[in-house]
Amino acid sequence: MNAGTQTHSHSSRSAVIRSVDAARRYLGGKFTAVENVSLDFMKGQVTALVGPSGCGKTTVLRLISGLEEPTEGQILAGGKPIEGPGPDRGMIFQAYTSFPWLTALGNVEYGMNILKVPKAEARERAMQWLETFHLGDFADAYPAELSGGMKQRVAIARTLAQNPAVLLMDEPFGALDAQVRWEMQEMMIEILSREDKTVILVTHDIQEAIYLADRIVFFTSNPGRVKHDIVLEFKNGHRFARKEEMLKQRDYAEIEAQLFVWMREEIQKTG
Ligand SMILES: Nc1ncnc2c1ncn2[C@@H]1O[C@H](COP(=O)(O)OP(=O)(O)O)[C@@H](O)[C@H]1O
Ligand SMILES: [Mg+2]
Repeated sequence: MNAGTQTHSHSSRSAVIRSVDAARRYLGGKFTAVENVSLDFMKGQVTALVGPSGCGKTTVLRLISGLEEPTEGQILAGGKPIEGPGPDRGMIFQAYTSFPWLTALGNVEYGMNILKVPKAEARERAMQWLETFHLGDFADAYPAELSGGMKQRVAIARTLAQNPAVLLMDEPFGALDAQVRWEMQEMMIEILSREDKTVILVTHDIQEAIYLADRIVFFTSNPGRVKHDIVLEFKNGHRFARKEEMLKQRDYAEIEAQLFVWMREEIQKTG
């Protein structure tokens, strides 16, 4: 393993989530948000779902979370059809989803309390997660006293404390300013080097997708379908601890440009 990078191989790993020809239609079938979505999400793999606004990224994530059901096809978690949200799949949204009446510690404990984790263990795990996210000194602070980046760290800590096998992230850093966003991305890389999570990340930020993901699934819009499904070969199985290490890679600019071209094609198509 190179210093500052993480080796990541998926050979001999199994699909944690499978989408088998899934479609989601609205308005009694008249409007198709997504269709023909067949994807295997492999254990430990970070996949970014990318595409223009309205192409169905959030819909796919909601199908996997169990908040919505496919109109056709099937979505499986651990080989079984998904029947609703479950503790195996932790969801992280763009909006800070902390409870304002609970402290940072209380927020991180909350999900574990629902899962009936013994109180003392929940407290210990919550403190560890707060410290991991550099929030150890803010355990007793309420969300209103925290910055946007800190609130989002509380929300992510709460989800991770529940120890889901799969992390579903929908534009998780979309509301943060550029520097905080970048810090959060590097923090995610650090967390993922310690925790073997399967991650499905929705983002419209192309650089973020390339930085965080091992694989990018690009969607067409209206109807949303998988247009490209690429493994980021230039990373050679590594995740870069620092963003500039990735930006310096010879092939980085090429893949970034390719994604912009795909994005433009889709935006022009829909006018
Ligand atoms: N409950 C719903 N009823 C009708 N249309 C919806 C509903 N939810 C999403 N859509 C539509 O489905 C399409 C895909 O939405 P979404 O998954 O949110 O896209 P994205 O996250 O890629 O921007 C959009 O055209 C959106 O307006
Ligand atoms: Mg969305």
